[in-house]
Amino acid sequence: MKKFDGKKISDAELSKITEAIRLAPSSVGLQPYHVTIVTNPEIRAKLKEKAYGQSQIDTASHLFVFSARTDLAKRAEDYFALATGGKPDAKETMKAFYGLVSGTAKNHEGDAFAWAARQAYIALGFGLAACAEMKLESCPMEGFDPAGFKSVLNLPENLQPVALLAVGHQAPDAPALPAKVRFPAEDIFDTVA
Ligand SMILES: Cc1cc2nc3c(=O)[nH]c(=O)nc-3n(C[C@H](O)[C@H](O)[C@H](O)COP(=O)(O)O)c2cc1C
Repeated sequence: MKKFDGKKISDAELSKITEAIRLAPSSVGLQPYHVTIVTNPEIRAKLKEKAYGQSQIDTASHLFVFSARTDLAKRAEDYFALATGGKPDAKETMKAFYGLVSGTAKNHEGDAFAWAARQAYIALGFGLAACAEMKLESCPMEGFDPAGFKSVLNLPENLQPVALLAVGHQAPDAPALPAKVRFPAEDIFDTVA
């Protein structure tokens, strides 16, 4: 959807979207992303300027800003603390898994942003699917200036905006969407039997 009517989605709908995003899978479970949900009209007006004036930004009920986390070593430590609940026994049992998690974080030190962004896009997909299930309108977006968003939202150093999800209900004067164009299955799929 390119233009929303500004009406708010319900709290139940919002929490289904946030849960779908929170429960999305990620490589070794690190969830190296953060989502800022923006409802404030003044901030949304500023963000619109950093998104080529796209009307989804200030007409959606909620605007989700997905940021990649680039502090992977810290994320791995936090993950392990969460998974073990700080219990020494659990730490011992999970030693091998901890090696995998921290090793993965270390392996991606050189491409932390690209790796974290890939994970964030999976979460974005889960948010989109949750909207579709509830028949809410949505628009995934990457047509915006990430540095501008970072500055307007005052995001910390370890967060880099990568994608947006605008959610809400269709505006009565929303532009008609073009017919769906999709490459045929033979183009997308290939079977090696
Ligand atoms: C990662 C991603 C970024 C996108 N960015 C924008 C965007 O900035 N603005 C916009 O209007 N649509 C955006 N779209 C929507 C696509 O343009 C749209 O899915 C595509 O044109 C096909 O349209 P359809 O899914 O309605 O058939 C984006 C979609 C994805 C998945």
